Amino acid sequence: MTERSYNSLLSTGRIAGLELSNRVFLPAMDMNLCVEGEISDGEIAHYTARAAGGTAMVITGTGAVAWPVGATSRHQPAFSDDRFIPGIRRLADSVHAAGGRLCMQLCHHGKTASVDTADGRPQLVPSLLEGGADMSALRDNPMDELMRLATATHGKKATYKVADEDDLAWVVDQFAAAARRVKAAGVDAIEIHAAHGYLLSSFLSRTYNKRDDRWGGSIENRARLTCEVVRAVKATVGREYPVIVRVNGHEYGAADGLTAAETAEAAAMIQAAGADAIHVSANAHNPFADFTDGPLPNTVAAYREHTKTIKRAVTIPVVAVGRMLPEVADEMIAAGECDFVSMGRQLLADPDLVNKIRAGERRSVRPCINCYVCVEQNFFDGNPKCAVNPALCNEKVAVLTPIARAQHVVVIGGGPGGMEAARVAATRGAKVTLIEKGGRLGGTMWFSQLTTPANAMLVDWLTHEIERLDVDVLTNTVADVELVASLRPDVVIVATGARRGRPAIPGAEMPHVLTGDGLRAVITGDADADLGSIGGLGRVAVGVGRAIGLLNDADRIRRLSKVWMPVGRRVVVIGGGLVGLELAEYLAERGRLVTVLEEGKHLGLPMAMPRRWTAVRKAAEHGVTLVREATPVSISKVAVRYRVGGDEFEVRGDSVVIASEVCADTSFADQLAARGLNVKVVGDAANVGYIEGAMHSAHEVAREL
Ligand SMILES: Cc1cc2nc3c(=O)[nH]c(=O)nc-3n(C[C@H](O)[C@H](O)[C@H](O)COP(=O)(O)O)c2cc1C
Ligand code: SF4
Repeated sequence: MTERSYNSLLSTGRIAGLELSNRVFLPAMDMNLCVEGEISDGEIAHYTARAAGGTAMVITGTGAVAWPVGATSRHQPAFSDDRFIPGIRRLADSVHAAGGRLCMQLCHHGKTASVDTADGRPQLVPSLLEGGADMSALRDNPMDELMRLATATHGKKATYKVADEDDLAWVVDQFAAAARRVKAAGVDAIEIHAAHGYLLSSFLSRTYNKRDDRWGGSIENRARLTCEVVRAVKATVGREYPVIVRVNGHEYGAADGLTAAETAEAAAMIQAAGADAIHVSANAHNPFADFTDGPLPNTVAAYREHTKTIKRAVTIPVVAVGRMLPEVADEMIAAGECDFVSMGRQLLADPDLVNKIRAGERRSVRPCINCYVCVEQNFFDGNPKCAVNPALCNEKVAVLTPIARAQHVVVIGGGPGGMEAARVAATRGAKVTLIEKGGRLGGTMWFSQLTTPANAMLVDWLTHEIERLDVDVLTNTVADVELVASLRPDVVIVATGARRGRPAIPGAEMPHVLTGDGLRAVITGDADADLGSIGGLGRVAVGVGRAIGLLNDADRIRRLSKVWMPVGRRVVVIGGGLVGLELAEYLAERGRLVTVLEEGKHLGLPMAMPRRWTAVRKAAEHGVTLVREATPVSISKVAVRYRVGGDEFEVRGDSVVIASEVCADTSFADQLAARGLNVKVVGDAANVGYIEGAMHSAHEVAREL
């Protein structure tokens, strides 16, 4: 396959007087690694790694112009005093030495200034609003998470102050003073944050700004504060110094929120005030409901249309963001839809993206799988971690040192844990043999891509990497103790996954009750899975699918299963965790009447928060009946009986899927150890932790061999 050239994406660009080596930016993402506003070594390592990876410009996570006033965290960058300049200069020097450019994002957090609440100050707002956001999604957050959500506010309740003329003059001055410090520290550009519900964007939005003075009403009045800030900042930093303004191209979930057309009008005014570029993001009114629409969308190039609309209204460069992948980014730049792109989570997952595509190694880019694990930590005022990149916020583990002496590493299991362990060990120079009992790599992650298509990218990446690294892969091979011992391994890494059982209730063994493995057989025709339970017609259909190779292609399975699937019309899913919820939505989309019975109080617990909230909402929108605190009692041919509190209920079900009863399983590892082999266990076999747990534990074990 010939590599695409990405000519547009890799071409040089310019904003005001600043030359940029290509069109890729790292957008602002809080790492929360600052110490009382001071830039730390961790922050420097994070941004330097992305600059060294070829990113043209890195934008720091949002910093507070008047810190701690108007701040969202004590761990974000502070710009309120000259004493912060030396730390910022160290960051700028380091990014420059790595060949990149540095931009810092300046903000006043307005109605989300948690530090104001913690310190007993009111939050600054354009207007007082009646009623709060619908927070019912929080019912799926256990108490410890609810307490951690209140970390930044110290659990205090916010109070508000409607900004008066003096406050607004002070805000403008604070931005200008911060800009002076940032420029003095040798930073290359500034981004003014006028998006995501913070102070400037709350003035821009009709939803939050109900004023009838010169700061409210028409879009001209609502954009006045942003324009005044831009004017003051430009007057401070000068014509050639780039000032980018980040705006919401759309406000989701707000009936009278900003639209792209209105933002386009505002963008023209912001340009006239002196801005040098517009960065088009988006926001959601209620983070507990719509966070996966904005600011962290779950679809690729989610804000493309908004960006086009805004691009037509201005002549300065426009930056696009929102799950941008290199292909669509290149296409958009070539078509003149935008001038630069920001890749956020994708550059958290792989800081070296630009260098890799420049070197023709697109398939070696570690993909972001859109799982929201990173941003969940921000809700807790913590440091993001990445499910697929264990080096995020811990850059020292990014460098894989060669293994001291030649070693033969045998890995058992071709799921994410096994493949990651093989990849890391092979990168370090070990001879690696990977044994997989099925006919293809990916394990349960291959299956999960049916409900979560982004997981396919991780299967592809790991498969490509272990091929590239010459890992010896034995598929359709059952690893028994004798076989493994005969390979004379120095180390055996067991990544055989979790054990999926059945609840100990009457009827659980009946043929229409499918465990995870049985369901996998039904949907994918997995050669290694037991088809005994699915009945004659299903067996024939799956056999035909297998024979003609129809079931090796996840897209095709997704399409075909919309037409036919050997699963009854009424399905009861026992277990409302990650697998149960996603499966329920998948089945409901295919016309099944689905009930999810979850024994615990909360649904979707293994999912990172914003994704969990969205998954619960979407399942309900698809008509799935969700029952919390439901203990299954018995299963008959046509129904499942369950108990909630002291009462017993029955729900009809022609098929029952067990998505609970998942536990770690070291039995094979124990047998190998008993034979005297040096055994390590990773992934769900050691501890059920899904993709994140598998990738992290495998990386750790293989990097310490
Ligand atoms: C962990 C994390 C922290 C973020 N913090 C900020 C921030 O400080 N300022 C900001 O404007 N956007 C922030 N964002 C939003 C990103 O800049 C970006 O717009 C968003 O992630 C969508 O881009 P992506 O789909 O490429 O990730 C954050 C995103 C993530 C994942
Ligand atoms: S944690 Fe998940 S969403 Fe965040 S960057 Fe990593 S893979 Fe992407």
